[in-house]
Amino acid sequence: MRIAMIGTGYVGLVSGACFSEFGVNVVCVDKDVTKIEGLRDRGEIPIYEPGLDQLVASNAAAGRLSFTTDLAEAVRSADAVFIAVGTPSRRGDGHADLSYVYGAAREIAAAMDGYTVVVTKSTVPVGTGREVERIIRETRPDADFDVVSNPEFLREGSAINDFMRPDRVVIGTESERARAVMRQLYRVLYLIETPILFTALETSELIKYAANTFLAAKITFINEMADLCEKVGADVHDVARGIGLDGRIGRKFLHPGPGYGGSCFPKDTLALVKTAQDAGSPLRIIETVVDINTRRKRAMADKIIAFMGGSVEGKTVAVLGLTFKPNTDDMRDSPSLDIVPALQAAGVTVRAFDPEGMAEAAKHLSGVEYAENAYQCMDGADALVILTEWNEFRALDLARARTLLREPVVVDLRNIYNPEDMEAQGFRYSSVGRRQ
Ligand code: UGA
Repeated sequence: MRIAMIGTGYVGLVSGACFSEFGVNVVCVDKDVTKIEGLRDRGEIPIYEPGLDQLVASNAAAGRLSFTTDLAEAVRSADAVFIAVGTPSRRGDGHADLSYVYGAAREIAAAMDGYTVVVTKSTVPVGTGREVERIIRETRPDADFDVVSNPEFLREGSAINDFMRPDRVVIGTESERARAVMRQLYRVLYLIETPILFTALETSELIKYAANTFLAAKITFINEMADLCEKVGADVHDVARGIGLDGRIGRKFLHPGPGYGGSCFPKDTLALVKTAQDAGSPLRIIETVVDINTRRKRAMADKIIAFMGGSVEGKTVAVLGLTFKPNTDDMRDSPSLDIVPALQAAGVTVRAFDPEGMAEAAKHLSGVEYAENAYQCMDGADALVILTEWNEFRALDLARARTLLREPVVVDLRNIYNPEDMEAQGFRYSSVGRRQ
């Protein structure tokens, strides 16, 4: 089996490397010459994802994984071509921007040779697969092909494990010939009894959005419940456990925090809201989720300021963690992008440390002082704020932190410390959805 992966971004590179580990011959294609040369000549991985460098290196060395800017050449010899290009939110209206997907479809059509399965791996709105089909047919009326939707459910930071041991694989196509090719590609997963769900094209496209928006709603539910817990003196973790043990609810994705961020939930919730409005079947629950989450990120700055006494002009806040979650350098829609500027607008000097995200953060945030480590970050600060739950922040030397901070004030928006312990150590400690 040979596949071409069009788009060597996060999804394309991870999926390409993992398919090659399954024994498939993979050519990853990208227009970005520097990226392709870096990968091909120096094994440079353009993103931070644990384990990806070894996976790329070993499969490239075995000759199963290669990199090129020549799309036509890669497509010509492929049994299946995956479209894994970006689908950013279109400026202004929240719709997913599909110009890269359709552009790739045209180029693929021009290069196809023999029966080819064209797979959309990028998260694309319902109806995109049909449009890809139409574009290919228009460009190459003689082409022998099928279009398949095969959404990915990878989480940044655990993407390789999520690909190798998924909860399920979703494949949307009515064509039996295409299904056979997809079965062959995922052969390894049949051995570990992974559920492989075959659906119609549109259904598969919608499953991806339904999954992400459901998860975003679940997080938003527990975040609002956390606010209520603070008001009535309840503990949100006990509430989450108490409801999550009910198998119908489930325990995962009930961890409260400063609001969801990242490259997927914010974009996908917005895109599905638009799709639903356009279809005349609005998803009011998701519209509300989007609204609550947007407000929440801003409200977190108010929470910090209030806990610091209300007047913060001229004070310094040490911020630990800037990325939207640990084990990534991704800053897209990170809550820190709302919280840090709001603190600065209130007259605070923000000093920050993040294990992987500072270079990326510097492109989006201005006026931030960057520290070399957590302790330098908090030295002389008036408060310590934890925004991302990196493991190294879970194990801080608290006695040292206590002496370095000018005021023993800690606002932990990820609940990685225990309120009783923090008080016993002499801190004034605030977290989310627990006794303040
Ligand atoms: C998410 C989905 O989890 C993946 O299944 C999906 O494939 C991916 O989007 C995608 O569409 O590509 P990801 O954005 O990498 O993955 O990150 P998550 O681990 O899902 O976290 C998203 C956000 O939710 C983060 O800001 C995180 O801090 C927040 N979160 C998550 C919570 O606040 N509480 C939780 O209990 C879980």
